[in-house]
Amino acid sequence: RGPDQNSLSSPIAKCPFMSCSSLKTLHSLYQGSFPFYRLPSEVGHFSLDENRQYHQDNRKLRYYSPPVGIRKKDSPGWNVMDGYESHYVRRNEEEKEGLLHILTWLEKNQSVLGTHVEGGSKRPIDRDFVTWRGHLTKLLCTPYETQEGWLLAVTLFKGTFYISERETEAARKKREERTQEQERLMYSGYKFESYICADSPDRQPSQSAVVNTNEAYCSVLLARLTSHSLLISGEVDCTDPSAKSSIPPSSYIELKTSAQIRNPHQQRSFNRYKLLKWWCQSFLLGIPIIVAGFRSQEGKIVSLETFKTSDIPHLVRGERNSWDPAVCMNFCNKFLSHIKAVVTKDDPRLVYLFAWEPGSDVTFTVHNDPEYTILPSWYVKAMN
Ligand code: A3P
Ligand code: MG
Ligand code: MG
Repeated sequence: RGPDQNSLSSPIAKCPFMSCSSLKTLHSLYQGSFPFYRLPSEVGHFSLDENRQYHQDNRKLRYYSPPVGIRKKDSPGWNVMDGYESHYVRRNEEEKEGLLHILTWLEKNQSVLGTHVEGGSKRPIDRDFVTWRGHLTKLLCTPYETQEGWLLAVTLFKGTFYISERETEAARKKREERTQEQERLMYSGYKFESYICADSPDRQPSQSAVVNTNEAYCSVLLARLTSHSLLISGEVDCTDPSAKSSIPPSSYIELKTSAQIRNPHQQRSFNRYKLLKWWCQSFLLGIPIIVAGFRSQEGKIVSLETFKTSDIPHLVRGERNSWDPAVCMNFCNKFLSHIKAVVTKDDPRLVYLFAWEPGSDVTFTVHNDPEYTILPSWYVKAMN
């Protein structure tokens, strides 16, 4: 089946969400019932090693190994600043990989996705959209985002829309001007992972291992949002060897850190901002559990808490100024329909650049300058 023909042929102006070429993001426009989202199923995975090299296996998958004898909300006392100066190898953030690793996976797994010629489709990748989970997380959060805008580059190639983020000027500036304090906070999120994950199910976490942010394990999943078929890849923190179901993604766990909550104001802010992002990120891949480590000002983990992803919407429901998961998903659904309506030229060299800033509508520009290209020539060649 090709891309959604209905939305391709419907006049955009008729749609209340779209005025010719722009899309509104106001959250009140997207209230309503929760759209159909099919639980993602894993079709593959890959690993990126300490040198950021791709491997078609799960060598970088880690195993959840919580401290024994510690009850909920007890303090494991881990110092998540430990090793920042001496045991930290940082990924080069100047290097923009775009969709590289997903395209590598697709190129090596064309048979998995199969082209169903009998069904009328001649698509080499029989999905409407291919993208990173992180890009979709940004979309889901958009109706509630007041600080950071985004740029999403879209190319339609052989019936599939590829979505790849471009760093905004503001994001680049923010990255280049990160303070030492912010750098340490970033490190602490990764260090927390190394206290609670082991490299194999029969080993214990290593408290002195080097934290290398080049390393990653990524799952590749198929999902569906209403009429939009998706192929999503996302980095997964760990798997739980004692999970009831060993079938991914239901065995996966997302790990998070956050500042210790000391008063009702901090609790409201946590529910409004952190839980929104945490829910969007984990819900998209079907990750059922989020384990949070709360850190003191001194950089010690003072409590651990387990959240069921599916409970989070109930935790925030009814609060003043809260967020609604249906709004997030309805907006994403409309944005994907908007892409299908706007991106009509199937050409691997063309890029439709969608831009959004808080308080504005989503607008787009079209580019054929190689500087904007998101599909490398080796990939285009491989699919031809
Ligand atoms: P925390 O989220 O616990 O702070 P993830 O949780 O998505 O697996 O990411 C792991 C860690 O990477 C984060 O831990 C954080 O330290 C760092 N990180 C991820 N995205 C980031 C971002 N946009 N800005 C700063 N740090 C980020
Ligand atoms: Mg992660
Ligand atoms: Mg995490």
